[in-house]
Amino acid sequence: MKKLIVANFKMNPGTERQAGSIARRIDFENIVIAPPFPFLGVVRENTNKASLGAQDVFWESKGAYTGEVSPSQLKNFGVKYVIIGHSERRKHLEENEGVINKKIKAALGVGLKVILCVGEPEEKGTSLDDAKRYVKKQLENGLSDIESSVSGRCSLIVAYEPVWAIGTGKNNTPERTEVMAIFIKEKAEKLLGKTVKVLYGGSVNSDNAILYLDGKNIDGVLVGGSSLKPNEMIKIARLVDDLG
Ligand code: PGA
Repeated sequence: MKKLIVANFKMNPGTERQAGSIARRIDFENIVIAPPFPFLGVVRENTNKASLGAQDVFWESKGAYTGEVSPSQLKNFGVKYVIIGHSERRKHLEENEGVINKKIKAALGVGLKVILCVGEPEEKGTSLDDAKRYVKKQLENGLSDIESSVSGRCSLIVAYEPVWAIGTGKNNTPERTEVMAIFIKEKAEKLLGKTVKVLYGGSVNSDNAILYLDGKNIDGVLVGGSSLKPNEMIKIARLVDDLG
């Protein structure tokens, strides 16, 4: 199975035209492009092979929820993947585990593939045990009671992103990432009764991506800052192709 590359544009780029031109250049089969909501259309128009992703979703299907977007609205638009529980949303929007759990259930319920983000912040300790303890809680809370909404083929992916590695240029070591990926797979399988894919995210670029893509238990990468640089993404996509 080819490894997956998720391009998380975050609140970038500035214009629809720029989003379209980046998308056109990074239109590869194993790439998921997750632009801000207003640019989903232009990314869809400019891609044939890449999959469309969203950076968030609400848990209700319709109604008086100003500013929110429902899972079925995304699904009907052609979105295949949705990122849920990114640490930036946990921090800036105070998104808690209960909210994340509701969003995961709703998104899986309409057939979206969920990319659940987990990862320890620096202040919770930096040892491997600290990281495991923190991520275990996030998985238990986020995945609580969702076994029944995960249909046949597992549509849940976990992105392991240590918060201290996001946007800092301080990427996690591949050895530690591999250990965490195994830990997450074991834990998620216990909770869901199914295997999950695990991605690594946190200051991934074309120079360090191979360290993670080479990992036996790491099924891909989630790229933030570098995803806005087509040349970087093209190089990462080639690495994935070379791995076969
Ligand atoms: P980064 O972001 O690649 O800029 O560190 C990763 C992410 O979106 O979580």
